[in-house]
Amino acid sequence: MLSKKLEKALNNQIQIEAESSQVYLSMASWAEVQGLEGIATFMYDQSDEERMHMLKLIKFVNERGGHAKVSTLNAPKFDFGTFQKMFQELLEHEIFVSNSINELVHITLQEKDYATHNFLQWYVAEQIEEEALARTILDKINLIGNDKGGLYLFDRDVQQITANSAAAPPSGA
Ligand code: FEO
Repeated sequence: MLSKKLEKALNNQIQIEAESSQVYLSMASWAEVQGLEGIATFMYDQSDEERMHMLKLIKFVNERGGHAKVSTLNAPKFDFGTFQKMFQELLEHEIFVSNSINELVHITLQEKDYATHNFLQWYVAEQIEEEALARTILDKINLIGNDKGGLYLFDRDVQQITANSAAAPPSGA
């Protein structure tokens, strides 16, 4: 049975994952309008992943005797300026999510809830992967600079990352 404190913290994380899904959905839409098809595909895929992160938490909270809450969400930005800035925001957003997961893990220890502690390890590993991916993409972006041909290849590359992650076996999902 979840403590009230942990239930509240998990519900807060449910909202964060839902908002993350909306942020990446808005990024996908922006990229699509710019004609950046590969980046748009990547962002649509990220958005779906965040929804999966949210659902996994909802089911866990309900299974453990809590009640998962579906809240009103803050609207994401509409315009992201440049794709470089957009990927920088993606990294910053993932760091924010990682900090939030770390805080949750901290609460499980305070509450001596080792089942939830164990459950959250999947998110800890997922955050390491997501931050690493964002950093790899930013490194590629720095290599391209303002080269148009580079951008064309980058857009194709990013789409490939999506295709590869879809083909890979689910990492414990
Ligand atoms: Fe669910 Fe990208 O954090």
